[in-house]
Amino acid sequence: MAIEIIGTGKAVPPRKVTNEDLAARIDTSDEWIRSHTGIGARHLADEDTACSDLAFEAAKNALAMAANLADARGEERDRAAADAAKSIDMIILGTATGDFYGCPSTACIVQDKLGAHRAGAMDIAAGCTGFIYGLETATALLGINRERKRALVIGAEVLSRVTDWSDRGTCVLLGDGAGAAVIEKTSAPSEGPGRRGILRTILGADGSGKESLIIRRGGSRYPFKEGETIEKSAHIEMKGQEVYNFAVRAVTETIEALMEAEGIGVDDIARIVPHQANARIVQAAGKRLKIPIEKFFLNMEEYANTSAASIPIALDEMNRSGQLKKGDLIMTIGFGSGLTYGGNLIVW
Ligand code: UT7
Repeated sequence: MAIEIIGTGKAVPPRKVTNEDLAARIDTSDEWIRSHTGIGARHLADEDTACSDLAFEAAKNALAMAANLADARGEERDRAAADAAKSIDMIILGTATGDFYGCPSTACIVQDKLGAHRAGAMDIAAGCTGFIYGLETATALLGINRERKRALVIGAEVLSRVTDWSDRGTCVLLGDGAGAAVIEKTSAPSEGPGRRGILRTILGADGSGKESLIIRRGGSRYPFKEGETIEKSAHIEMKGQEVYNFAVRAVTETIEALMEAEGIGVDDIARIVPHQANARIVQAAGKRLKIPIEKFFLNMEEYANTSAASIPIALDEMNRSGQLKKGDLIMTIGFGSGLTYGGNLIVW
């Protein structure tokens, strides 16, 4: 038995904000942002769009692909997605910017929108590593119960809602979007020749870095008080250099650990799909491991850092543009708030 990805989808808001647009509002420049991060633009949601709206769109695209209607649009896509949603047993959604604080989960809102009535649903709070944690959780939940066959794993964020637009150290980095994958238990082997699907996952955390990337206010530690004016502490705060150093170490060590556990070398891996936070992080890790930069898929130039959505958006773009071939061995590598890190090794 293998657990394979049978559909991918993404949704990004149409409003594109370039580096130049930001430079017109705050003290930054296209040159600084590109040279320090590789980011050229980000897509930002309008006021009426919440996390579940983007997640719902990405999920419909993934479900339509799972129903062999990857190119369907409009009503045809919605019908295919609604049909396929009935077969989903579990919805796992990684986010730091869900529709509501604490409850209900955004996964439940998506379950309702999709009409995925038999699916259990829950959110995962693992920062930018949310999709990797979600994929492993969903894989385990399918594996443990023979009744469950299919799951939907989503990463979705509206980071623009928690961004301090006067802080040039964070606002230039972040974007909104959602990505989704449908996974299914199949009869393909998961070991030996012809093996398929999600082979192995590493999940890690270092909670001592909890303050390095944090939305400080609104929880039970520093709750909002009635009548209080919302100020900066309700937004994302980041110690950039600390996160950078952690990220380079996490990417390098997770790639090494997955290769070692599986007894494979760099040449066995077709593509690596890193969290799209900063091209320099990927370049630094690639240099340490002597992995050519072309092996990494990078799209932060267009979308910036969409946190838990970045890896599934990347997977969908690669999948739909024919960059993933059946049988390819690929790696996802993530890191983020928590601090968390992890990676999946998948035969496509
Ligand atoms: O999903 C995980 C989330 N986060 C990350 O992965 C981020 C990890 N960290 C990073 O990617 C990098 O640390 C940053 C891109 C955030 C910052 O790059 P850096 O090369 O570490 O810059 P820095 O913070 O050391 O700042 C260098 C200079 C400073 O000016 P001075 O003090 O040298 O005069 C900053 O004030 O660059 C300045 N600066 C900017 N200048 C123009 C910082 N942000 C900007 C900006 N535009 N947007």
